[in-house]
Amino acid sequence: MMIAIQNVFRYFVVNSTNREYKKYKVNSVHGPLCPNAKGDNKMALLISNEEYKNGLDALYELIPPRVKPLVSFLENKIFPIMKEKSTFLDIGAASGDLTKIIAPCFQSTTVVDEKHIFEYIYNKHGFDYYIGDFMNYNSKKKFDMILCSHVYYHVPIDQLEAFTKKMLSILKPNGILVVALTAPRGANHHLCLSLNKDYIHSEKIINILNKLNVSAEKESSTFKISTNDFQKIYAMCKLFISVDCFANSSDKLTEKQVETISKKINDYVLSTKQDNIYVYLYEEDYLVIRNS
Ligand SMILES: C[S@@+](CC[C@H](N)C(=O)[O-])C[C@H]1O[C@@H](n2cnc3c(N)ncnc32)[C@H](O)[C@@H]1O
Repeated sequence: MMIAIQNVFRYFVVNSTNREYKKYKVNSVHGPLCPNAKGDNKMALLISNEEYKNGLDALYELIPPRVKPLVSFLENKIFPIMKEKSTFLDIGAASGDLTKIIAPCFQSTTVVDEKHIFEYIYNKHGFDYYIGDFMNYNSKKKFDMILCSHVYYHVPIDQLEAFTKKMLSILKPNGILVVALTAPRGANHHLCLSLNKDYIHSEKIINILNKLNVSAEKESSTFKISTNDFQKIYAMCKLFISVDCFANSSDKLTEKQVETISKKINDYVLSTKQDNIYVYLYEEDYLVIRNS
């Protein structure tokens, strides 16, 4: 019975997420679509607004619901070990796809994101929010769970440690920090590495945590996206690569470099073809840090 209720709940959340995404898409065609959060289209060289929009379209169409693996992980492995579920903070919540599903499990939800365009979503759902760089966020409260999902790619390398320390500093005793990031394994990782050897993946964050004497448990997850539509998988792959590998540096790329990167992505997507179907495997890791 409980599972049936959860499934119905999730059905409505996923559908409302897609509706909101469509609204966001329409609203932001001329706005700062690109993932580099400053809103000044720094990534336009590598990924144009049109390509970014196509990538998001493909992402929502090919992985419904995109956030499912992480939500299942939280439901099955994290919530059962939590002592208290009072306050939840989602850092880099973007359009709140994850936040909306997780928020009902907590008494209060706060989000932080640099982008203004998502503000109406946070208002609509009654989240407390701070629009701006997390490093400038002065939190008056501490949190039982902090989620930082696919955000580290945007953090400048020289701020990674301070960003991590800051998250830990606002975790309650017995609180849990969950970090989701691309994993350093599989073909996608090798592509990322060949494009930018300094791209941020989970192992780099584990190294920072080790330096801070903080231990993390790791759960690995893989999701598989299959389609016979080259344009869609290419658009989605370009979006992933632009965010994962170049969120911080695309404004420094030359046109020649952009051409080379686009060609490598093209060749990579072609190499995933099996019996007329493109099979794209995305490996991610969930890091769990307990404040005990
Ligand atoms: C790739 S999206 C991740 C969205 C969501 N967490 C998920 O996993 O679906 C990254 C988000 O982090 C935000 N972001 C990046 N750096 C940030 C910072 N220093 N402070 C606040 N938000 C940041 C960006 O604006 C963007 O919306």
